[in-house]
Amino acid sequence: MRYINKKLTIEKFSVETIARKYGTPTYCYSFKQFKKNIFNFKNNFKSFSPLICFAIKSNTNLALIKEIKKFGLGADVVSMGELMMALKAGINPKKIVFSGVGKTPNEINYAISKNILLINAESENEIKEIEKIANSKNKIIQIGIRLNPNTDAKTLNQISTGKKENKFGINEKKFLELVKYCKKSKNIDLKCLSVHIGSQILDHKPYEKMLMVIDKVIKKAKYKFKFIDLGGGMGISYGKDDKSLNYKRYNFAIKNFLKKYSSKIIFEPGRSIIGNTGSLISKVIYVKKNGKKDFIILDAAMNDLIRPALYGAMHKILPAEKKNKRSNKIYEFVGPICESTDKFSSIKNFQELKENDLVVLHDVGAYGMSLSSNYNLRLKPIEILVKNSKIKVIRKRQTYRDLLNL
Ligand code: LLP
Repeated sequence: MRYINKKLTIEKFSVETIARKYGTPTYCYSFKQFKKNIFNFKNNFKSFSPLICFAIKSNTNLALIKEIKKFGLGADVVSMGELMMALKAGINPKKIVFSGVGKTPNEINYAISKNILLINAESENEIKEIEKIANSKNKIIQIGIRLNPNTDAKTLNQISTGKKENKFGINEKKFLELVKYCKKSKNIDLKCLSVHIGSQILDHKPYEKMLMVIDKVIKKAKYKFKFIDLGGGMGISYGKDDKSLNYKRYNFAIKNFLKKYSSKIIFEPGRSIIGNTGSLISKVIYVKKNGKKDFIILDAAMNDLIRPALYGAMHKILPAEKKNKRSNKIYEFVGPICESTDKFSSIKNFQELKENDLVVLHDVGAYGMSLSSNYNLRLKPIEILVKNSKIKVIRKRQTYRDLLNL
């Protein structure tokens, strides 16, 4: 995304043209960026060619998952809905891993019937439930056990998953007991040790620590895991203050680890594949003057993009058309929802905005649309994909007919 003749453009389409044709708010994805991210991700770890399972939760758009499939990626799913979506997109079941702390018997049954690669179990009782179902079907099921490595991912608390107080995974002691249990089981084939310590990780050191813990646990378990699933979590840069993850160091640590073990590495990236491919185009409904600050009331709100309200996350906002005049007020970008947290950011010295001007919220491809809702009975936005100089609608804008079953 860049300015051409002062107009912000996505691949070669100006935001203005897109908004005129498709309205606002609109999620717009760039295929070029998407392709680049997949290429870079593969390239960063090419020496051990991992199985890359895209975390469907980060973006559940069928057309995008179909594109992901074309690049040979698998999927990481956490619910029956996500598993059905991955299969609908044509992803090979032998490239699908099922994570999550609360898989229901119904979901386990479904996963077993689809012959997916791994069910990554997160508790003793889940393993027993899988065993019971496998036994009733007279099948042997490949599972992973998610270890809680008690490693601080040095990311936001709300998206940290690898510390002992988090609900995810199983502590070392229990993990070792369960490995023994699985060795004796007739219906469970333990194939994988999995971890996922958190999301939006920009420091490679927590990953290094995590690998050290895995190393120690495998030694104690005296067990040969065919797969080591390292989860996702690779962070992206949302603004100028963010540093970027040192993939070289992470790759180096994994290569060292693999000198001792011949396991196949699995990754479950979401944000690093799709995050910076998406933008949210929005229109200013009103400029509301309020002393030192002006509220810029957008037609996009926390129901369209909840990350700022939920995690205090920052998304860069840029005007669709560059003008010279700056405002001397603080601009507080908000949505129309009846919640004070329905706020995107406060910015000083933004260019002067008036009603009907367009702005773009950046890097919303991950956990943007997938976390959207109908709160305040607002319609969900349209999603479009810019690919090979064409725009394709990949999800229609919701209508009141859809929403109210008219
Ligand atoms: N694997 C597991 C087991 C996960 O729980 C997650 C994300 C991922 C993979 C993918 O992580 P990624 O590579 O995208 O960081 N809504 C939050 C992020 C929640 C992440 C939940 N789990 C946000 O908007 O920042």
